[in-house]
Amino acid sequence: MGRLDQKVAVITGSATGIGQATALVFAEQGATVVCADVSLEKAQQTVEQITQQGGKAEAVHVDVSDVESVEQLAKHVKETYGTIDVLFNNAGIDEQGGKVHEYPIDLFDRIIAVDLRGTFLVSKFLIPLMLDNGGSIINTSSMSGRAADLNRSGYNAAKGGIANFTRAMAIDYARHGIRVNSLSPGTIETPLIDTLVGEKEKEQGKQFRDANAWITPLGRLGKPREMATVALFLASDDSSYVTGEDITADGGIMA
Ligand code: NAI
Repeated sequence: MGRLDQKVAVITGSATGIGQATALVFAEQGATVVCADVSLEKAQQTVEQITQQGGKAEAVHVDVSDVESVEQLAKHVKETYGTIDVLFNNAGIDEQGGKVHEYPIDLFDRIIAVDLRGTFLVSKFLIPLMLDNGGSIINTSSMSGRAADLNRSGYNAAKGGIANFTRAMAIDYARHGIRVNSLSPGTIETPLIDTLVGEKEKEQGKQFRDANAWITPLGRLGKPREMATVALFLASDDSSYVTGEDITADGGIMA
């Protein structure tokens, strides 16, 4: 028996990294997974892995920052499944922008549009598919939503916003049987962390990883699957009395 048997789960940003690992874990636990991503081709690769392992999944294109695209996703999911049980708002981008006075306006807008507004848009259009039966929503904040990073104020603003947006959603939907929590990863070994190493320092990528491992009490970066198992806890009935919470999984950095 899987912990998500008979459940339908939508995961945004499931082509790589944490979203991909979570799609695999949710499918292993019996869920039918909608792998929604701006890269349809890569999301299809996630689906292939799931089907090879005997799981059920489909890939759907979505740009979470685009209203029409999110509406299309919701329409497709409604027509195909009727209702959903789990929504993992995981799609996100990050990039260094410099100090606030030099931070490019278009980069700030882009990060807010994908990370924060994208979480709002996908929730807005998919929550109606949860209102009848309840469910679990997991938003993705970050340790960068609790503390500041040098030259990344746009990301800090977006992730801090997601943490409090999560609390607002939790009280809005508690009486509908929908739990809403956030997951705050530390530094996790995914393609995203390469975007934090500037072009010139690309060859120093290992140094970035080593430095982060050094400041982490557990002494290493996290693995995507270690985020997926926390997401599984929040998605499943194991967390049936948990809502409005943020779970930090960062190897102890914020301790
Ligand atoms: P990743 O770069 O491996 O995956 C992000 C996924 O989101 C990709 O599949 C990408 O195609 C998709 N995506 C990007 N823009 C999109 C859009 N507009 N619409 C739909 N999909 C889009 O990154 P990772 O590390 O797996 O990140 C997942 C989440 O975890 C993000 O929200 C990130 O901010 C958060 N996070 C990651 C940390 C890390 O150290 N890797 C630390 C803290 C938070």
